[in-house]
Amino acid sequence: MKRTSVLFSMLGVAAVVLGFSWPWLANRTAGGVSAATVALGKTIYAERCATCHGANLEGQRDWKSPLLSGRMPAPPHDASGHSWHHPDGVLFRVTKEGPAAVVRGGYESDMPAFAGMMTDEEIRAVLTFIKSTWPERERQYQAEMSRREQEQAQLDRAPPNPSSTGKHGL
Ligand code: HEC
Repeated sequence: MKRTSVLFSMLGVAAVVLGFSWPWLANRTAGGVSAATVALGKTIYAERCATCHGANLEGQRDWKSPLLSGRMPAPPHDASGHSWHHPDGVLFRVTKEGPAAVVRGGYESDMPAFAGMMTDEEIRAVLTFIKSTWPERERQYQAEMSRREQEQAQLDRAPPNPSSTGKHGL
């Protein structure tokens, strides 16, 4: 009698835990990103990016050859392009600040900076959507690039080694 009541209360706890975590679990896709974020990103992509990068992420025709203006056409965002060669930080900056600001040196681009038009969260969502369309190989490559970028950023942030500075701290 006692055992069964312990068992029932354990089942009760398990049901409550599952009840609370189920919506959270259901909102996760295999890659660990939220399905809601991908859906939001898809909508934003259609509104803000598709005119140039293509409704199916296919990019502009002849995207590897410069236009008459000398500027580059919009590249695809699918696996045939090279967005997946870039780590998260670069993709984010290109979208937020625009290619011209990222490349610098007077570089001109037809792509605007989205800083004033989209929040950081919206930029992350649209990039999450783009990434969600890549095949496993491209996704893994890009994840590795992002991991290295993070590692480098941590090294850059680390305080200089005191033993490597001179007596007067110079
Ligand atoms: C008016 C056209 C236009 C729109 C709209 C546009 N882009 Fe672009 N995008 C370009 C062009 C052109 C390039 C090529 C960069 C250059 O000028 O060399 C580019 C390049 C990029 C790159 C670098 C790709 C690579 O492989 O190096 C990213 C990332 C990018 N765009 C993301 C976006 C996102 C995200 C949106 C929507 C929020 C967007 N773009 C909207 C025209 C556009």
